[in-house]
Amino acid sequence: MTSVLELSPVVPVVVVEDPADAVPLARALVAGGLPAIEVTLRTAGALDAIRAITDGVPGAVVGAGTVITPAQVAEAVGAGARFLVSPGWTDVLLEAMRASGVPFLPGVSTTSEVVALLERGVREMKFFPAQAAGGTAYLRSLAGPLPQARFCPTGGIGPALAPEYLALPNVGCVGGSWMLPADAVAARDWDRIERLAREAAGLSAGGTCR
Ligand code: 3PG
Repeated sequence: MTSVLELSPVVPVVVVEDPADAVPLARALVAGGLPAIEVTLRTAGALDAIRAITDGVPGAVVGAGTVITPAQVAEAVGAGARFLVSPGWTDVLLEAMRASGVPFLPGVSTTSEVVALLERGVREMKFFPAQAAGGTAYLRSLAGPLPQARFCPTGGIGPALAPEYLALPNVGCVGGSWMLPADAVAARDWDRIERLAREAAGLSAGGTCR
């Protein structure tokens, strides 16, 4: 795999509170048609969750999100992460991500950050926080002057907005947590999560991005 953006049109962003939930949750997402899963490194159990999904859910392609230090890059890849996502970037973090050997998405929210990443040879980025930073209007505006940059917008996107993002020429996939409502996860309602995943997987059907 060389590109995170080509994995799946919709990438669920998961905050795992209890690592015991990781495998059934990932199974529900994969069964619903969302094989690429970003587990955020925001909880104590996140690395265990990545390990558990790697070992226990063959159809899943699990990556690590909220990666903000070189140490986290190493830990995530060591746990089995097959891609890395960060809400932002620095040269130190970029160097560690490049050296990791797995595809990665550094995060941007301004035009100058996009230019700076292009200058460093990076063309694929997370656009975060997507809705707060200008949404589809902002990304559409970037497509003219900077067509070589492609994005995975994430942050504040739900099923109503996802198709609008996916229809943009510079969007490869969208990320979000809308298919993992807190009450469904708390109730371990994996059937509901599978249904929501299936709906999310269907959102890109009419899009122009793939
Ligand atoms: C995140 O890092 O939390 C992602 O951007 C998910 O955002 P969302 O919960 O607003 O979908």
